[in-house]
Parts: sequence; structure tokens; C-alpha cells
Amino acid sequence: MGQDKNSDNGKIDANKRLFIRGVFVGSAIVFTGTVLGLGKYTLPSNPGIKNFPRLLVGSLSDIQTGKAYTYNYPLTNQPTLIVKLGQKAMFGVGPDEDIVSFSNICQHLGCIYNYASGADCPPGAPFPGGHCPCHGSHYNFLLNGAVMCGPAPRPVPRVILEYDPSNQEIWAVGMASPTIFGYNTGSDNVVYDMIGGTPVQDGGRATLTPVTVYSS
Ligand code: FES
Repeated sequence: MGQDKNSDNGKIDANKRLFIRGVFVGSAIVFTGTVLGLGKYTLPSNPGIKNFPRLLVGSLSDIQTGKAYTYNYPLTNQPTLIVKLGQKAMFGVGPDEDIVSFSNICQHLGCIYNYASGADCPPGAPFPGGHCPCHGSHYNFLLNGAVMCGPAPRPVPRVILEYDPSNQEIWAVGMASPTIFGYNTGSDNVVYDMIGGTPVQDGGRATLTPVTVYSS
């Protein structure tokens, strides 16, 4: 009888161990599945680009003073302006430090804004910059795209340019914050924010298209 009892106890202990092991394995499976499942919602399925492409925007002679041109950067569907202002600008490049480039998408609700040689808002101190026809936001190109008036909550994003004096080439090499309207994921990372879309070809050359220059 004593042996039978010990044998039963042994079976019970073995069953307990099996049960505990089963609970542990099952919990691990459920936990892993939960984490993976949540991952679908916490991790973007299409992470942003790792680095901004380098794009040859053009030569100095391609960009005339007072004219404005559009090209796409950093994605193939992102309109961007480049202007040679004729006066020194914050972050301006080129021999006269007057060439600047900004996203052409308004930071308010995403309209394409116009370039005006004498934007005048608030009135009395005109400046070269963006004037959005939708709700009147004005961006000062001399002051790094600062909002001068209108409902835009933040400056228009600047394209980081490099000028090579040896061959007079102007290159787009990145973008400064804030992120282009419509792409901000809240990550505070303007590269990572470029989710979706196709980056322009790294090392490629932009197609410059002149746009209308408005007086105000
Ligand atoms: S979309 Fe430009 S001011 Fe509203």
C-alpha cells in the first residue's frame, strides 16, 4: 500500500509538472502573439527613408535672380521651390548667399502657395516669400520660411542646399524641420517622417520648371 501511495504521489507530481509547464508555454505563446499583434498598430508598416537623397538641383546659371523654379524633393511627388532672391538670406547659398529652397506645400492645410517678390503681410514691410491663396499665410524666405501672418502654425520646411564653388553646382542634400505638411508622424525626425512615396534618385538631377512670380 505504501508503495502504491508513493507511486500515486509521483504520478500527481508528474501531472502537476506537466500542467505547470503547459501553463507556462501557453502563456508565452499568448504573450508573444499579443506583442506581435500590438506591433501591427505601434510600428509603421512602411518606415521612412533612412537618409535624404542628394539631388543636383542645377548650376548657378540655371537659376536667375528674381525668378522662382519648382522641382520635386525629397520625394518624387513633393513640389519644392528654389529662388535666387537677389539679397542675402538666412541659410542662403551661392556667391551672394541668396539662393534658398523651401517645400511648396503650405503648413496650414496643404495648399500649394505662390511665390511673391514683395509679399506684404503685415502691410508695410514687403519681403520675398510665399503667399498662400487659400487662407493667406505668408512665409518670409529671407528668414528661413518664418510665418509672417495667416493661420499657418509653423514655418515652411527648408531644403538644405550645398553650393560647390568649383563647378557652381547647387545640390539639395536634406531638409530642416519642421516636416513637410501631411508627413509629420509626430516622431520629430524629418527623415523618418518621409513614410510612403518614392524618394528622388540619389545622385540624380532635378528638372527645374519656372513658376509665376507674383508681386505681392
Ligand atoms: S492652406 Fe495655406 S493658408 Fe490655409
